[in-house]
Amino acid sequence: MCGIIGVTGTGPAVPRIIDSLKRLEYRGYDSAGIAALVDGRIERRRAKGKIRELEAVLLAEPLAATIGIGHTRWATHGAPTTTNAHPHKAGRVVLVHNGIIENFAELKSELAVAGRVFESQTDTEVVAHMLDEALKTDTNPVTAFKSVLDRLTGAYALAVLIEGEDGLILGARRGSPLVVGWGEGEMYLGSDALAVGPFTQKISYLEEGDYVAVSRDGARMFDVDGTEVKRPIVQVSASSAMVEKGEYRHFMEKEIHEQPDSVQRTLSEYLDFVNGRAKTPAIDFTAIDRIQIVACGTAFYAGQIGRYAFERLAGLPCDVEIASEFRYREPAVTPGTLAVAVSQSGETADTLACLAWCKAHGLKTAALVNVHSSSMAREASLLWPTHAGPEIGVASTKAFTAQVAALLALAVAAGVARGRIDAPTEAELVKALFEAPRLIAEALQMDGDLREVALDIAKATDVIFLGRGPMFPLAMEGALKLKEISYIHAEGYAAGELKHGPIALVDEFTPIVALAPMDDVFEKTASNLQEVAARGGPVIMIAPTRAPDPHGAGIRRIAAPDCHPLIAPLVYAVPMQLLAYYTAVQKGTDVDQPRNLAKSVTVE
Ligand code: F6R
Repeated sequence: MCGIIGVTGTGPAVPRIIDSLKRLEYRGYDSAGIAALVDGRIERRRAKGKIRELEAVLLAEPLAATIGIGHTRWATHGAPTTTNAHPHKAGRVVLVHNGIIENFAELKSELAVAGRVFESQTDTEVVAHMLDEALKTDTNPVTAFKSVLDRLTGAYALAVLIEGEDGLILGARRGSPLVVGWGEGEMYLGSDALAVGPFTQKISYLEEGDYVAVSRDGARMFDVDGTEVKRPIVQVSASSAMVEKGEYRHFMEKEIHEQPDSVQRTLSEYLDFVNGRAKTPAIDFTAIDRIQIVACGTAFYAGQIGRYAFERLAGLPCDVEIASEFRYREPAVTPGTLAVAVSQSGETADTLACLAWCKAHGLKTAALVNVHSSSMAREASLLWPTHAGPEIGVASTKAFTAQVAALLALAVAAGVARGRIDAPTEAELVKALFEAPRLIAEALQMDGDLREVALDIAKATDVIFLGRGPMFPLAMEGALKLKEISYIHAEGYAAGELKHGPIALVDEFTPIVALAPMDDVFEKTASNLQEVAARGGPVIMIAPTRAPDPHGAGIRRIAAPDCHPLIAPLVYAVPMQLLAYYTAVQKGTDVDQPRNLAKSVTVE
């Protein structure tokens, strides 16, 4: 998503901000901007495009200040123009933002009634107006800021300057990361350790819901309830912050926590949040009559989730096959087929071979890949990027949810193109997708419960995962995650299939993890769970609180966020990943580099 930096000290802040923005450019480069307090007054410089464009603006109109904030943008709300570039200003306030303010439309109308005039189409600008308004009645910038934060719904990292508050940068995080950097007589706020890496290696990671007042000589931090807190200062090595674990014990844990951001980044590629529309991809979905997805492992399960969406939303027949099977079975393909290779690395040998085969057989081809310069990206005629960022943990997490997010958004686009989705339904589905980063952040809060469940799972030798509809491939993905990092045998089954054989495995020692969002098959899943519980199986049901109880002895409930069924695979992926992660930690396995595995399988 976007990159944020704030600097407050006694030396020139602007060169430092530019240096940092260059390091943050990987997060987005639609536009960039800087705001500073010059003699106590806000000055702004902004430019469309890369940081070098902003540098050119600064060359023409230099900015000398000891305090400033900077931003490099990945556009979500509003086109990538200079007017939509951050920082956004309203009265005494100027700020930068990473994330999405979900209730911005409602807040904007409220502010418009109060006579506020907006210059951009962004969701961010409302926050600047709200704070400027709040400062009229509350002269304490920190409490005024908190009153604004309390009204925001969505995900955000913010950095704020206020005219008349020289030396002060306010910051806040929810869903999107933000760190405080501790220097000598100079303090920093940044999206990650990399942002402040050139200036300091002493970092405090803000926690979910935290907000902070950063001054030249320190930082006061507050938790979501407004209680002043101290977050530990950790030492990181800046040069490799991109591939460092930061505050996390393992890369896998870090990558699980990056998902609100990585899903949002990916969705922005395919959706127009401002207008509630799916973007039109560079393919005519009316000119194809079938989709053939090929993939391996986790990417294969993402493809299977995509199939449910393409068929349900677009009426587009979709087959999904493991690449190593497809490639040698001489499949009967038809000319109207679009072949889609789904892959994190874009280098998996079997998937790549399938792509080449499909191309050689005259099919249209697309590569849904996370590495945009990969062989698959080059081989396919169409590149569908995911924006998970580098994934280091061998067990795929954020790449998986990015693949699912992209496929769901593309299925909506296909449904619209094929006349199966009308405008109100499109708006409803886009809104649902738009809520996914926040609900993923909420799902991350399930970690306490899952840590406890993991203590039991770690004692098991077999675990069964159950789900229906798109939760079935997710159950298989949950089983795969558990197998590969904890070395516990696990299988994912379609909940309705259990009584056709696998139920014979159920006994008091075999935990059954059930994924039960409130969708149109919830009742069916609940009945299957009763059948298992009746046979003594210890069931762990992951479901929203409002889901009715299946009345089974031994059914343990773990509350998951309530969500639109479309995004349930994104939200429920998080407890699957956390469960596997905590089980592996409990067992003491090598989480990031499990035995016998490699990140990119370039041999068949
Ligand atoms: C499991 C995992 C693997 C990969 C598979 C395909 O956690 O990471 O199953 O999903 O090897 O890799 P890519 O997506 O790079 O083609």
